[in-house]
Amino acid sequence: MAGTRRFEGYGVLVTGAARGIGAATARRLAAEGARVLVTDVDEDAARETASEIPGAEALRCDVADPASVEAAVAYAVKAFGGLDVLVNNAFAPVVPDHELFEDDPDDSWTGQLDVTLMGAVRCSRAALPHLAAAGGRGAIVSIGSVNAEADFGNHAYSAAKAGLASFTRTLAGDAAPRGVRVNQINPGTVATRGWAGREADLAALGSRAYPLGRVGTPEDIAAAVAFLASRDAAWITGTVLRVDGGLLAVNRHFGEIMND
Ligand SMILES: NC(=O)c1ccc[n+]([C@@H]2O[C@H](COP(=O)([O-])OP(=O)(O)OC[C@H]3O[C@@H](n4cnc5c(N)ncnc54)[C@H](O)[C@@H]3O)[C@@H](O)[C@H]2O)c1
Repeated sequence: MAGTRRFEGYGVLVTGAARGIGAATARRLAAEGARVLVTDVDEDAARETASEIPGAEALRCDVADPASVEAAVAYAVKAFGGLDVLVNNAFAPVVPDHELFEDDPDDSWTGQLDVTLMGAVRCSRAALPHLAAAGGRGAIVSIGSVNAEADFGNHAYSAAKAGLASFTRTLAGDAAPRGVRVNQINPGTVATRGWAGREADLAALGSRAYPLGRVGTPEDIAAAVAFLASRDAAWITGTVLRVDGGLLAVNRHFGEIMND
């Protein structure tokens, strides 16, 4: 959508924005006029990413740490004169499940839930009063996953993303009377660093599992974030938008067997 500037005068905070989907989102919203605070637990990478985005600033923020989250929101409000959009994108690295479910200890659940679900809760809690003061522009967009909707492995990650979808709905109810919209995007496979070195797997997934013939790019997700964050989505709240190249809607395996 070259040329549209839907976020002129907006202040935006993106978590986990040093790379991948978060960085693409920061670039997209800035290209449409926003001033973006690029936050990440990896401070050096956040600074490098922000340095290439006009008007952006960078700050270390660990979404697992309430004080760090409060400080990041306060920084954005001060730097941009307010906060209009929060993008909850940070997540905990996914540790593969043990072969047997009963071998997964509490730790592998609590670590994942604390960052992926509670991180978004903390950021939303800190940001909401400022988003409510944004004169009807306030919006939260959280990045979920198709793992919230179907089994692709990883119990705790899937539960965290499903919990995030529930939180998206319940917070939408709280926030609507205050003029703030809350939505979520559930991406399918997106080529980011978690898939580095697995180009053959990505190509195979693209051609065999994805009806649209490829896996996603960070820019595919950023475009959907921009839509939900913008006034084009002024009457959309409490929604989870799947951005997955048709993965969950179309059962390719079933079709292939039937056509054999
Ligand atoms: N890549 C995919 O295939 C895919 C698919 C579905 C959903 N998602 C979701 O998209 C989002 C972004 O994923 P990505 O693939 O771009 O990841 P990525 O690994 O490229 O980037 C994630 C960023 O989050 C940061 N981070 C990690 N822990 C943090 C913390 N505690 N506080 C702040 N920042 C932290 C990392 O430093 C990193 O820069 C995540 O919510 C992920 O679950 C990704």
